[in-house]
Amino acid sequence: MASSVLNGAENLPLSTGRAPSGLGFLGSSLHGRRLPKMGMVPFNGNSRTRTMVPKCSLSSSRPANQPRFIQHKKEAFWFYRFLSIVYDHVINPGHWTEDMRDDALEPADLFDPRLKVVDVGGGTGFTTLGIIKHVHPKNVTILDQSPHQLAKARQKEALKECTIIEGDAEDLPFPTDSVDRYISAGSIEYWPDPQRGIKEAYRVLKLGGIACVIGPVYPTFWLSRFFADVWMLFPKEEEYIEWFQKAGFKDVKLKRIGPKWYRGVRRHGLIMGCSVTGVKRASGDSPLQLGPKAEDVKQPVNPFAFLTRFILGTIAAAYFVLVPIYMWIKDQIVPKGMPI
Ligand SMILES: C[S@@+](CC[C@H](N)C(=O)[O-])C[C@H]1O[C@@H](n2cnc3c(N)ncnc32)[C@H](O)[C@@H]1O
Repeated sequence: MASSVLNGAENLPLSTGRAPSGLGFLGSSLHGRRLPKMGMVPFNGNSRTRTMVPKCSLSSSRPANQPRFIQHKKEAFWFYRFLSIVYDHVINPGHWTEDMRDDALEPADLFDPRLKVVDVGGGTGFTTLGIIKHVHPKNVTILDQSPHQLAKARQKEALKECTIIEGDAEDLPFPTDSVDRYISAGSIEYWPDPQRGIKEAYRVLKLGGIACVIGPVYPTFWLSRFFADVWMLFPKEEEYIEWFQKAGFKDVKLKRIGPKWYRGVRRHGLIMGCSVTGVKRASGDSPLQLGPKAEDVKQPVNPFAFLTRFILGTIAAAYFVLVPIYMWIKDQIVPKGMPI
């Protein structure tokens, strides 16, 4: 029944029209074309040219000013205090495999060992291991707010020459116009203000540099949508595009990714569901002006509210540990070539 109630975004038609101008953009006229299950979807900041925007607003996600339980820096800090123990061995194999990683990094055009690269929210260094397949480790910096995750990265022999630092994605300790590539995989979902993080990506890049943000996509199946909304930020594809365009990026593209055994199904959302890239169009800071930061980690928190958010968020996260197992079982049972 689950699969017949709502189809995933893999079956969504493309709409053509202007670039999205607000969250929850629905596009204009429909032309019945279907998005590829995986692959590049071009978006163009020039409103006079044709723009392809996936219409996946089957239900609107929460407004950006109502963060989910773990879409807070302090909650994310404590979440990874424990999760870092099992992250590489238990969490990644269900959501973020090596082939997905390499596929997601491909649009970042990392094919030069001299590139200066930052891996923001780099955690245990799983994505960094994909970056250093092409870029010399001494040119790569891993930044994360969790010392526990970074401790795991420090233990990896292959990452010994990388620079590893603690820091906040929304307030990067790098000069303006200083790096060739900005990579961030699976971190945006915890940022209270994702637009600010992407604006920071723009600032630190050199002219012509590429930002590549890999992250979740919003589910369309009702139960998955409920748990996603409780847990953390699962942006819609058009939200990513809008954040990139507002920050000032040109040539914004979105590539769909997912574990092989999902056979392209996207109705449950994916913790690692797309890779979005954009090119810095002019030197200096982003043209986007933002007010003060939404969350100051140094401010004291209400311990009751914190604990409630943390426990409820962790329960919701458990649902998404089960989804890939459910999909894997379906993949084993349903004959190859048939939809699951
Ligand atoms: C799902 S892990 C991804 C780790 C790694 N990029 C990978 O591909 O395996 C998310 C990481 O984002 C980090 N994180 C969350 N919020 C952050 C923030 N505001 N600034 C920096 N790192 C953050 C977490 O500590 C965690 O290590």
